[in-house]
Amino acid sequence: MTFEQNEDPLQPGYSFNANFVAGLTPIEKNGIYDFFVDRPEGMKGYIINLTHSGEGVVYQGDEVMNCKPGDFLIFPPGIPHYYGRRPNANRWHHHWIYFRARAMWTNWLSWPEKIGRVGYYRPPPEISDDLEKLFVQIVNTSQSLESYSEILSMNLLENFLIRRMQSISQNKKELKDPRIVLACNYITDILQKQPELTEDNNSFIEQVAQHVFLSSSRISHLFKEHMGVSILTWREDQRIHRARLLLQTTPLSIAQIAQSLGYSDQLYFSRVFKNKIGLSPKKFRQMTFKSWSAKIKKA
Ligand code: FCB
Repeated sequence: MTFEQNEDPLQPGYSFNANFVAGLTPIEKNGIYDFFVDRPEGMKGYIINLTHSGEGVVYQGDEVMNCKPGDFLIFPPGIPHYYGRRPNANRWHHHWIYFRARAMWTNWLSWPEKIGRVGYYRPPPEISDDLEKLFVQIVNTSQSLESYSEILSMNLLENFLIRRMQSISQNKKELKDPRIVLACNYITDILQKQPELTEDNNSFIEQVAQHVFLSSSRISHLFKEHMGVSILTWREDQRIHRARLLLQTTPLSIAQIAQSLGYSDQLYFSRVFKNKIGLSPKKFRQMTFKSWSAKIKKA
């Protein structure tokens, strides 16, 4: 018996029985595409997606991440897809490319920053525009009816992957600036040993500056240039990273965790956490335990 398959790749039921398919999924709140993509077995090929506007949320086992305009995600073959519009955003428009990889791309497709098994990449500001344009060009090329459009799309995709690799190796070189390494180590150290010192933002930057023998404005500028984010954002990311670990692996209360990370106001901590992770600390902990106990039951 044959059953009818969907002809629209944006709707469930499309076979993706192809080497290369790409498109734009324009999800609007309550619109026709406003549902969660749910593919528990994943796909045969890779998917890279780029958030164009609005925000999406991606669930990966215990982990949750929000994607914002300019974020690229890569889903390797066979991993579950569960994602959609972030509930408090009005839209999530994202471009995506589904492809079967060439053998020589393997290393270029393994992106080190990961949420579960989904790779994440945010290009440095100086190339982000070019990479986004190139990505959209790949999508458009693959949809054109001209001859050679599929092979040209593969060629452009290879171009995209190479440019990403180039930029990463340049960043690695830059990261060797010892003052930035020193500043990062110092910040991590303070967060662990004297979190209360992180309370006041200005004096915090001042301390980092003194530690690396530069003025506050010089280190702020240099830091942003090398790391792509400000000192305060980087510090916040480290704190939230630690918070996730403590929530998942210790019985400490949320107030204790907030305090141990230098947040004197627990509500403020919960707000920052929710903003970055998409769930409150309490919900995050509950979700982790739920999925662990499900795994333990299964085993
Ligand atoms: C579309 C989704 C998009 C991507 C492709 C492969 O239906 O909207 O995010 O998963 O399928």
